[in-house]
Amino acid sequence: MGKPIRIGMVGGGLGHGGFMGRVHRMAQRLDGEYVLAAGCFSSSAERSRETGDALGLDPGRIYADYASMAREEATRDDGIEAVSIVTPNHLHVPVARVFVEAGIHVVCEKPMATTLADALALRDLAKRHGVAVMLTHNYSGYPAVRRARELVAQGALGELRIIQVDYSQDWLTEAGNEGWRGDPDQAGPAGALGDIGTHAYQLATYVAGQSATTLSADLHTFVPHRRLDDFAQALLRFDGGARGRLSVSQVSPGNNNRLQLTVYGTKAGLHFDQEAPDALMFSPLGEPAQRLDRGGPGPAGGADRQAGRIPAGHPEGYLEAFAQLYRDFAAARRGDTAAAAMLPDATTGCEGLAFIEAMLASHRAAGRWTQLPSYSD
Ligand SMILES: NC(=O)c1ccc[n+]([C@@H]2O[C@H](COP(=O)([O-])OP(=O)(O)OC[C@H]3O[C@@H](n4cnc5c(N)ncnc54)[C@H](O)[C@@H]3O)[C@@H](O)[C@H]2O)c1
Repeated sequence: MGKPIRIGMVGGGLGHGGFMGRVHRMAQRLDGEYVLAAGCFSSSAERSRETGDALGLDPGRIYADYASMAREEATRDDGIEAVSIVTPNHLHVPVARVFVEAGIHVVCEKPMATTLADALALRDLAKRHGVAVMLTHNYSGYPAVRRARELVAQGALGELRIIQVDYSQDWLTEAGNEGWRGDPDQAGPAGALGDIGTHAYQLATYVAGQSATTLSADLHTFVPHRRLDDFAQALLRFDGGARGRLSVSQVSPGNNNRLQLTVYGTKAGLHFDQEAPDALMFSPLGEPAQRLDRGGPGPAGGADRQAGRIPAGHPEGYLEAFAQLYRDFAAARRGDTAAAAMLPDATTGCEGLAFIEAMLASHRAAGRWTQLPSYSD
């Protein structure tokens, strides 16, 4: 561990909202790798001030708007080295752009942008300025997910055949809770698809090491007057030869965050359940299924042990997985290329937007098989 990285935050105001800001602040603190030094926590100057005061920030570093924050922090000797962006989706790119131009590394919530064109432009800008972008697809911070990825990469599953991912929630089963997520001007063109579909797709591609080339999608909005989808499903064909299916819903009663991934290969299958994230089910063909506990014995496990903090049996969960991304991001800033390779980045962000745009195009064409637009470097 080196000297803590000075980080700022845009979004995450206390009071109503600010959900992800609270999570990011906890994740930043968990391993002592960051110190929160500046912030613009709300579009309201007063709310930003109240939040910064409550967090004990230097009053001179609580900002009324994010552009001044980027400008002023860039001129200070003790200015922030990174910023976390935890605003509604439509602000991710405009906020990221001013910090990238100021040479400040970016941690950004998903989806990275509201269009693929914007995502590509941001990735190019960051590259030109030599600035790192981490996208907080936090499920890729779970030790079990890291182990699943390692098992696939080591060939323990053989050749991958089938990839199935489902993310079901119920909190939008009735109208009224949408907030900015119900407004296409703030959320972007996708509802559940953008909010949790991007997580499901990223989890599948992260573990499988394959990306979709074409897909056939069906979206629906079950709740009357809602302006964006609350359900989406797709069949997918992957570049490594696997076939898959993905479904996401925010209208499935009885589900909180039921994110489940199952992958089958010629030699074995594996199953990850986000609501029981401390273990991975591994099923070699012709053998009894094995529960691979975090940090426990069994095949692979190097990446898993690295990502855990406490002995198995003391549960780790969502916050620790989130903190893992921050820990890897700090290590990457110190030149650790293995840590950097674990992280969702600006290309992952472009991949997410390519997925969204292909899903929307396929749905509009009555489910026609549709190629993902290109996002390669
Ligand atoms: N990774 C995850 O698990 C996860 C979970 C939930 C949300 N998210 C993402 O996090 C982001 C925020 O979602 P949320 O649920 O925290 O929303 P939220 O509505 O709870 O919080 C948004 C915050 O942004 C602030 N804000 C709005 N405009 C601003 C501006 N101009 N300047 C500064 N601050 C401004 C608001 O005051 C509020 O504090 C979204 O992009 C969402 O997709 C990710």
